[in-house]
Amino acid sequence: MAQFQDLKTRVKLNPETYFKYDGGEHILLKNIHSDDGLSIKYDIMLILYELIHWKSVGELVEPWPPGDQEKIKAHLETLYASRIVITDEAEAAVASESGLSETLGKNIHINVENHHVMLRDYVRMAAYRRAIDRAVTPETVALDLGCGSGVLSFFAAKAGARKIFAIERRSDIIYLAEQLAKANGLDTQIEFVEGASSHISEERLQPKPNLLVAEILANGILEENVLEFTIDARRRFLAPGAQMIPCGLDIYFFGFDCGLHQSRWEEVEEFKDLYGIDFTMLGHVLCGKATMRLDRFNTALHKAVTDPVLVQAIDFMTLENPAFVTRFELVAKEDGPITSFCGYFKAHLDAETVLTNSPWAPPTHWTHLIYTLPATRFVKKGEALQLELIYDGAMRLQLLD
Ligand SMILES: C[S@@+](CC[C@H](N)C(=O)[O-])C[C@H]1O[C@@H](n2cnc3c(N)ncnc32)[C@H](O)[C@@H]1O
Repeated sequence: MAQFQDLKTRVKLNPETYFKYDGGEHILLKNIHSDDGLSIKYDIMLILYELIHWKSVGELVEPWPPGDQEKIKAHLETLYASRIVITDEAEAAVASESGLSETLGKNIHINVENHHVMLRDYVRMAAYRRAIDRAVTPETVALDLGCGSGVLSFFAAKAGARKIFAIERRSDIIYLAEQLAKANGLDTQIEFVEGASSHISEERLQPKPNLLVAEILANGILEENVLEFTIDARRRFLAPGAQMIPCGLDIYFFGFDCGLHQSRWEEVEEFKDLYGIDFTMLGHVLCGKATMRLDRFNTALHKAVTDPVLVQAIDFMTLENPAFVTRFELVAKEDGPITSFCGYFKAHLDAETVLTNSPWAPPTHWTHLIYTLPATRFVKKGEALQLELIYDGAMRLQLLD
């Protein structure tokens, strides 16, 4: 555990936000409320919640409860390995980003939010670069749907695409992407189009793109409406027979024991009397949702009680209706408690390139989609649970028996 001695984390654009582990018995959190530190915030909250049932955020110097040190070290190791933790090397970037507005010569607030986290997700970046390199020819006219920082357009430009339309609905980040294109001499190939793709007319993108590149995969898998936007883009913008990256998406679920269950449902109790009012119903709604408190299945800490099952295989080339209701079965591979169900995706970027946030694959920046049961379900080996996954613009999972 030597690498955690004096581990220091900084969140870019807010040098005041950090947590510090002294290698001994204390963890220090400071200004963890930062908007820019969202993913770090939830990971750290999870650690604290599991260890000391600490529910608020702010500033803390707390000894860990005795006996739990191995657990927190394992958590920190996972965070470190998944690169959610940005170590000291980010400091240089902090310094250069804080000078961004000056460099661009414009008084504009650019909120890079998670874009730096996505750029540092090397599993994601390598998969997209490979698929783009394999797809692009000198005849390629690409559409980058949701270009963000512009990175996928830049890959396509470097691979030799004739033209790239980069669509982005956020004005601040598309402005940055344009400046980056200029700074890298890629602006002659790339045309930036500001707006939500669904509001852009098909005449605007001429000649018609023969390659779609899009990364609008959310922690909640379909949360960014990837299905709706992909269908719309394919129908209105793309030339017949155009290639799509990704061309398909598989959704998997499995059952597990999250270990947080008791404390999570104890919270519902608290809602019984808030300011003399019974808020129990609100507590049930809260606990019925995919939880943000535990947002990652950790193979070192949690136990899968069923194998993962492919619940929905979506073919982007032929999909016409984004909505679905799918029944499926999870079979217990051993006796044990199931408190939660974990969903993850496999995106087929091309026939040979798969990008996944499976907990058993190399870690990415994506968390998992986790639904928690209102009561622990004890299952026997071989017992089958019947479930239903529904998507109608929002995703829901229901246990049927
Ligand atoms: C997950 S980020 C990916 C950004 C970039 N392509 C990358 O790979 O780093 C998705 C981006 O797509 C944008 N976006 C999502 N749906 C969009 C739509 N329908 N039209 C335009 N932009 C969209 C979001 O604002 C966000 O910047």
